[in-house]
Amino acid sequence: MSAHLVKEGVYSVGCVDWSVRNFHGSTYVTRRGVTYNSYIIKDEKTVLIDTVHAGFTKEFVENIKEVVDPSKIDAVIINHIEPDHSGSFPEIVKLCPNAKIYGTEKARQGLLKYYGACGDFVSRWISVKTGQSVNIGRRTLEFIDVPMIHWPDSMFTYSAFDKILFSNDGFGQHYATSKIFDDEVDYCSLMDEAKIYYANILWPFGQLLAGKLAAIKKMNLAIELIAPSHGLIWRKHIAEILEKSAYWAANSVQNKAAVIYETMWHSTEIMAKKIADGIASEGVEAALIDVSKNERSDIAAYILDAKGIVFGSSTHDNFMLPLIDGFMHFYKGLKPKGRKSFAFGSYGWSGEAVENLEAVIAESGTEKVLDGIKVVYAPSKEELDKCFEAGKEFAKKILNGN
Ligand code: FEO
Repeated sequence: MSAHLVKEGVYSVGCVDWSVRNFHGSTYVTRRGVTYNSYIIKDEKTVLIDTVHAGFTKEFVENIKEVVDPSKIDAVIINHIEPDHSGSFPEIVKLCPNAKIYGTEKARQGLLKYYGACGDFVSRWISVKTGQSVNIGRRTLEFIDVPMIHWPDSMFTYSAFDKILFSNDGFGQHYATSKIFDDEVDYCSLMDEAKIYYANILWPFGQLLAGKLAAIKKMNLAIELIAPSHGLIWRKHIAEILEKSAYWAANSVQNKAAVIYETMWHSTEIMAKKIADGIASEGVEAALIDVSKNERSDIAAYILDAKGIVFGSSTHDNFMLPLIDGFMHFYKGLKPKGRKSFAFGSYGWSGEAVENLEAVIAESGTEKVLDGIKVVYAPSKEELDKCFEAGKEFAKKILNGN
């Protein structure tokens, strides 16, 4: 992708990674690809905001050169150091020998650890925090540190002149496209990706994000564009993404449930279906999710606002099955709050899986509201009736909030 004009004096110079399908190791399947956004502001001084993934350095530099000779860049702002944004930092330091470099103190420390003192960047580094700014001519760029949203070094940059909030990972979506604005792509797909992104990148930091969103609201910033480092720039749907982000950050849940399971010989699967049927019979939406056939990142997005999450596994080698085991560790890391749960599963002779699941349910802070259900080999009619009734009872607890 080449450079795009965002508004007078502001350019998008980032890159599109159309083919990447795994992000954050294997935790996040990016089926629509990813963009690594970067912006240039041309004023009396020229500023580059954020860099990109190392693999896109050549293309990135070509995009920059469409707007400005890199040696003429006066300032580089590093909002976040994760390698998808800082990979090309060493090359940019080299190509912009006259640039002062702005970021949080944590960013400086992290860049030193990742790249060493490349290009002696430390001598040009200025550590900044909320309340500090830099004047570049008609514009003054303000810094807003947002630690743990989602790394310790994270910050936003705001241009009051342009009414643009450069939010880095905040309000992002993994959505490869040749377009740059939210109203240029399908709205439902965009919001789906925003939800998947929130669930997989920001969920564990919801409480911090809620506080930061409230603080930013108090700052009364005039915002016409939110320019994140991933995906589309918010132009038309700013109110919607701010409202959704606040909703997710508040750990809001709906009266819906997921029955997440892994099965060996379908017995646990048959139980799962009956439990889901029981939940649905009370009018509560119930999704049946086989962890061997669904991506973790999609499951996270579904359960982001689900009040009920039921877990099932067959017992294998005295333990739960390996894929649900992996999912449970992922689930615990999301730090879900205010959810209800119970466990179920089939077994042959030992039956530890239900206790294994219940242990992680407890560790995750999720409330176990029903006793586990265990079935030897294959469920009988009576045992399936018990699964259905458990589903009904679970749905009532979701609906009644007890
Ligand atoms: Fe897009 Fe936290 O990196």
